[in-house]
Amino acid sequence: MLIIETENYKELSKRAAEILIYEINKKPSSVIGFATGGTPLGLYKNLVRSYKNKSVDFSKIISFNLDEYYPIKKESRDSYFYYMYKNLFDLININKKNINFLNGETKEYKKECKSFEKKINKNPIDIQIIGVGVNGHVAFNEPGTSINSKTRLINLTPETIEINSRFFKKRKENVPKKALTMGIRTIMKSKKIILLASGKNKAKAIKRLIDGPIGKDYPISYFKKHKNLIVIIDKEAGRLLK
Ligand code: GLP
Repeated sequence: MLIIETENYKELSKRAAEILIYEINKKPSSVIGFATGGTPLGLYKNLVRSYKNKSVDFSKIISFNLDEYYPIKKESRDSYFYYMYKNLFDLININKKNINFLNGETKEYKKECKSFEKKINKNPIDIQIIGVGVNGHVAFNEPGTSINSKTRLINLTPETIEINSRFFKKRKENVPKKALTMGIRTIMKSKKIILLASGKNKAKAIKRLIDGPIGKDYPISYFKKHKNLIVIIDKEAGRLLK
């Protein structure tokens, strides 16, 4: 595990972008796993800026996203699909045919999860960006998730619904109670993982990952086992570390 402790969120975002751009320039057809939430927004701003400066070309990358609410319409302003197009995909030259997303509109969610898992196996993820929930969840793998979990439908915890409602236009009552998510095993297969965590409410989860035991009560702790994990945190997220 490589830990990069930065001064603040701005520096964290810059460092993450530098690493990703370096990898894409080295391998233009990289398979990149993207994440949503508040934390990667600064990274995406940096990627867009670098694209405009012509220091990176996204035309050959293949993308996967970690998760999506269920059920949700793609065009809903609250969907992760909408988030990714608004904050990144519409602003760079990614080939739209190379974007892979879990479909929150499907009725056949089992089939959807199976085919998503299959697509990842065919196009192994080179670099996966992840964040962490306050309760230690990764993507939507809530506490209690097995290390062997694959892409599937899950129930969100009341805590996650409450925390994520801050992004919803009509607040809490509109947050779906379920989601489709890559499993822990799916994410762990990525060749390189970059974890981003910012702010004091992430400090406990970061402490558990770095100084604590592996256990299903904090799914983030499973990532201690990954051979190529880069943890980029700011001072506040690292405040409980030794
Ligand atoms: C959501 C996402 C996760 C993300 C987490 C933290 O629940 N499914 O992938 O890591 O939120 O989000 P934030 O960056 O807003 O704290």
